[in-house]
Amino acid sequence: MSEVFDPSLPISVAKSPPADWYRSESQDHLERRRVLADNWQAVAHLDQLEQPGDYVSGCVGGEPWVVLRDESGTLRAFANVCRHNGTQVAEGAGHAETLVCPYHGWTYDLQGQLKRAPRIAGIKGFDRDMYSLHPIGLQVFGPLVLVNGSGDATALDLDSLTSDFEATGWQDLVRVERRSYELFCNWKVFIDNYLDGGYHVPFLHRDLAAELDLSGYETECFDSYAVQRVASSSEAGERLSGEALYAWVYPNLMINRYGSMMDINVVTPMGPEKCRVDFDWYMEPDVDPALIHDRLTASEQVQDEDIAICESLQVGLGSQHYRPGPYAPRVEHAKYLFHRLVAADLLRSPDQ
Ligand SMILES: [Fe+2]
Repeated sequence: MSEVFDPSLPISVAKSPPADWYRSESQDHLERRRVLADNWQAVAHLDQLEQPGDYVSGCVGGEPWVVLRDESGTLRAFANVCRHNGTQVAEGAGHAETLVCPYHGWTYDLQGQLKRAPRIAGIKGFDRDMYSLHPIGLQVFGPLVLVNGSGDATALDLDSLTSDFEATGWQDLVRVERRSYELFCNWKVFIDNYLDGGYHVPFLHRDLAAELDLSGYETECFDSYAVQRVASSSEAGERLSGEALYAWVYPNLMINRYGSMMDINVVTPMGPEKCRVDFDWYMEPDVDPALIHDRLTASEQVQDEDIAICESLQVGLGSQHYRPGPYAPRVEHAKYLFHRLVAADLLRSPDQ
């Protein structure tokens, strides 16, 4: 018997989604399009796009993208799909004056206009202007560049969240490290764990819990994001002093600001039961590299604890005895918001 998730219920009687949401190929396939590719995705950091000609490319939910800074300093985002046969015209990240398709040499300028197409003589009525790279939605959020390849890329309203982060001085931080982790769990398991309102912290992260005043842990939900806040305890070391701000932006972006640090996490599905989480750490400038190493080691302990629990949860989801469980109404409302947003995107008709 397969259960159906009902997003209309009040949280006091709602049940978490069925195991199929976390295990089936068809769910994974649908989510990549509707939940990932059709929503805003954090794909690059501004420090990768400082100079005209700098570009970054990749692929989200089956949609290849390229982001670049053109000669006038304007950031642009395009579908990374050659207008001749569909090959990716940019690969990886770097610096270029034009984007040249590696297949047949079609060449685009930094505004996406086709400038050169070898050996096309004989095509009836060929008009180069009809073959520009397809522009996609682009939004800058703090140090991040977000893209959205859907037809209706309405910008996210992140003004209030941006102000919250500006109040913490995030604009003064510099990126110091990137690490990626592969997890044997569905990508949503990682987000669920993040959005449980600190429920798991005293049990799973005992060392971290000692440094936080969990009695004041707060979660606030908005249309497409949620913010969790917690103050440090009197036992907190310098790493965690002050208030921590943990923000999740639907569907798969998390930003954690605490002490003199910030880490940004993006989780990407690699199949129904596997995902990758990219962590980018930012710190106040001019920090001693030895201190950075110590801080990352402390951060990694929390990561390791979360990874182990997410992988354990995935095993349970595969059990014949697994059934959807209740939400803890006072702490897990952001998790329920996430599931309701996913449900709404899955129900949306493809042309909406
Ligand atoms: Fe955790």
